[in-house]
Amino acid sequence: MQYDVIVIGSGPGGYVAAIRCAQLGMKTAIVEKYKTLGGTCLNVGCIPSKALLDSSEHFYNAAHTFAEHGIKLADLQVDLPQMIRRKEGVVEANVTGISFLMKKNKITVHQGFGSFVDANTLKVKKDDGSEEQITTKNFIIATGSKPTSFPSMPIDKKRIITSTEALTLQEVPKHLIVIGAGVIGAELGSVYARIGSKVSFVEFADSMIPTMDKTMGKELQKAIKKLGADFYFSHKVTSVENTGEGVVVKADTPKGEQITLEGDYCLVSVGRRPYTDGLNLEAAGLAADSRGRIEVDDHLQTKVPNIYAIGDVIRGAMLAHKAEEEGVFVAETLAGQKPHINYRLIPGVVYTWPEVASVGFTEEELKQDGRAYKVGSFPYKALGRARASMDLDGLVKVLADKQTDEILGMHIIGARAADMIAECVVAMEYRASAEDIARMSHAHPTYTEAIKEACLAATENRAIHM
Ligand code: FAD
Ligand code: NAI
Repeated sequence: MQYDVIVIGSGPGGYVAAIRCAQLGMKTAIVEKYKTLGGTCLNVGCIPSKALLDSSEHFYNAAHTFAEHGIKLADLQVDLPQMIRRKEGVVEANVTGISFLMKKNKITVHQGFGSFVDANTLKVKKDDGSEEQITTKNFIIATGSKPTSFPSMPIDKKRIITSTEALTLQEVPKHLIVIGAGVIGAELGSVYARIGSKVSFVEFADSMIPTMDKTMGKELQKAIKKLGADFYFSHKVTSVENTGEGVVVKADTPKGEQITLEGDYCLVSVGRRPYTDGLNLEAAGLAADSRGRIEVDDHLQTKVPNIYAIGDVIRGAMLAHKAEEEGVFVAETLAGQKPHINYRLIPGVVYTWPEVASVGFTEEELKQDGRAYKVGSFPYKALGRARASMDLDGLVKVLADKQTDEILGMHIIGARAADMIAECVVAMEYRASAEDIARMSHAHPTYTEAIKEACLAATENRAIHM
């Protein structure tokens, strides 16, 4: 065989798997249909969305909080094309970095579209139409996901758009209608609301980010409402039409009445689907399940023993860091090691402002499981650090076992929650009790004091500053 491992797809699952395979001495190749490496995450996902979130947050602060800080600005304007250009520069720097890492680790990059010939052979069709066949002992499928939609909301990529187009708009929408108030809706809706768009969320569920702890959705809605957004919860979209100049969205209210919203763009953010189009899975003895996913066992092995699959194309959260853990897991499994992933402790973050970050069980899940638990929470507004920065929105919520005090879930909405959640993951990985964290020194003044205080609150209601 030409290679020990061929990885199909160069997103965070694929490129990390390839690097770990190479580190472990395997002759490794990676196949990517696009010209740049890094997959959804680096090209049209995590990185560009965070670049625009940061730029738009700067603008918002300049317009709304600088004066109170004693900073005067005149003639403040949004230059969206420049914002998009800066974002493209950030993407470029990141994808170039991945090419460098491939060279450094002596991983062969085959640029082209991969499709199976058999369980050991892949055909790679390049952009110039030429084809090559490469062979391997093992495959790792890391082909990721694509935006999904419903027949009532036909994507045309012009006015009825997905996250990919929302990252490259050249004008600030006057009225952006967002279908789905999940993670993408909340993040990209925030970007445009901050730079002047009227944003209306039409959501099937009864809250924002409905799969996270309900307190988070409630608090996030309050924060996003301050940006002037409207919410249509428990609404069922029945049609979306591009009228040339704009869009018309029709939806049924919970009472069965119909509403009509008119805007200039409609962002469809109702989830993503695993992507295996054109991969010719059947030739390798595989098939996607009814939801388009590749089935794997606990070792991330498919039913064909030398073929593994990771990331968005298999079950579980569609998150870059989950895909990365799985990439390392498969590489180490192939090297004969016994790796482990604690799926319960993969954190989830929404990069709105305030940020939302969670790990472990939600209160709703604990209730459903009939588990005895206690809650400790602490508001940001009682923190000296939050007052100094004027980031007063938010809270930390800790869920601990009623008898043992073991932390079962931690949920944060507030400034820098995305970084603070790491402390919670470490604590939970070592099965800390709320009292353990409550007794550890947290630097003052920091936002992390809210974690300590929430744990004190869970421990016999002992919060100091509340
Ligand atoms: P992908 O990143 O999707 O990569 C798959 C790669 O495979 C692609 O490059 C594709 O071109 C290639 N490919 C597919 N088929 C073939 C083929 N037949 N031949 C050759 N190549 C092929 N997650 C987070 O954790 N944090 C975030 O902040 C975050 N923000 C996001 C923001 C947006 C707007 C979006 C859309 C997603 C975001 N995500 C975020 C999710 C994250 O991007 C995905 O979970 C992650 O990219 C999945 O990694 P992956 O390696 O499984 O697949
Ligand atoms: P999502 O699953 O987060 O949200 C989709 C939302 O659409 C849900 O609230 C759902 O109730 C709603 N919905 C579904 N059908 C609907 C309908 N017919 N009408 C109205 N609402 C409807 O999916 P999203 O936001 O598209 O993101 C896709 C994936 O990308 C997520 O799984 C997420 O993990 C990942 N992602 C992660 C980010 C992060 O980690 N910060 C950022 C962006 C995306």
